[in-house]
Amino acid sequence: MPALTSSACGKFILCGEHAVVHGQPAIALPLSSRRINLRVEPSILGPSGKILLSFPALGLDTEIDDLPENHPIFHAVFETLQVLGIAQKPSCKLHFNANLPIGSGLGSSAAMAVATIRGLSAFLGHPLDDLTVNQLAYECEKQVHANPSGIDNTVITYEKALWFQRGKEPEFIQTEIDLHFILADTGIQKSTRENVARLAQFREKNPDFVNPRIEEIGDLAKEARKALLYGDESVLAKCVNRNQELLRDLELSCPELEQLISIVLDSGALAAKLTGGGKGGHMLALVEADQSKIVLEKINQKGALNAFLTIVKGD
Ligand code: PMV
Repeated sequence: MPALTSSACGKFILCGEHAVVHGQPAIALPLSSRRINLRVEPSILGPSGKILLSFPALGLDTEIDDLPENHPIFHAVFETLQVLGIAQKPSCKLHFNANLPIGSGLGSSAAMAVATIRGLSAFLGHPLDDLTVNQLAYECEKQVHANPSGIDNTVITYEKALWFQRGKEPEFIQTEIDLHFILADTGIQKSTRENVARLAQFREKNPDFVNPRIEEIGDLAKEARKALLYGDESVLAKCVNRNQELLRDLELSCPELEQLISIVLDSGALAAKLTGGGKGGHMLALVEADQSKIVLEKINQKGALNAFLTIVKGD
């Protein structure tokens, strides 16, 4: 069997994270410049019936069976072999490399799952279609995150701007204009699984406080979708800023995120919020095209980690 390659992008959530777990709609965008890449090659001299793996960014050089049980790659291998009806593991090595930050709100667990399912199924001579890849990646997300909405695996599988609501068919959406975003890392890795569970507890104890905020986040996602369609950056900015206030109320922000948000807003960004699981991870800022370099420079001067610009092209 020849070596094969696969790849999966990262993602960021423009509006609606967490509320999407509770049935509200959300908007996610693909982050095509940040990816997890995989090369699968036969291990001719390696142990037979074993899958080896190297992933330098995670410090991993091991056998698949030695991965922690809730690791997305472990489940992606298992799900792929099961759906293809292959009982005996192939003798091969999975070489991963990534420029997608791991564990920081940009969909790394879903990207690992999608790259693995695509690469391994192709290596085995049965490349899976996107629908199956997405279904299997969602199964992996369930093992890793316990109660995922499914937004991450869907936007990453299809690599298109996504309107997502649990239990409904995903819709791919259009943006009228090019949108410029800056992402910056707090450097804090937080478990999305824990943050989702914490919000569920908060909701159970204080439904009168939490439920209206979750609903308002859903309304903002609807307004943001219209703003994307009509290319109205100022309405989009209001949605993003209000979304952050609500996420803050829901105790999903943290001082490091708030500091990054203040820096970009003071430097001329239109809006800013956390993106993904929160309590750390990445900050997302919406910026005007001609302001993007200045905001990026300012945030870099203030010592932000791995800040970068990403452009979502209008249709
Ligand atoms: O932190 P991430 O990249 O896994 O994003 C999670 C998004 C949530 O809405 C918080 C959870 C989910 O499953 O939708």
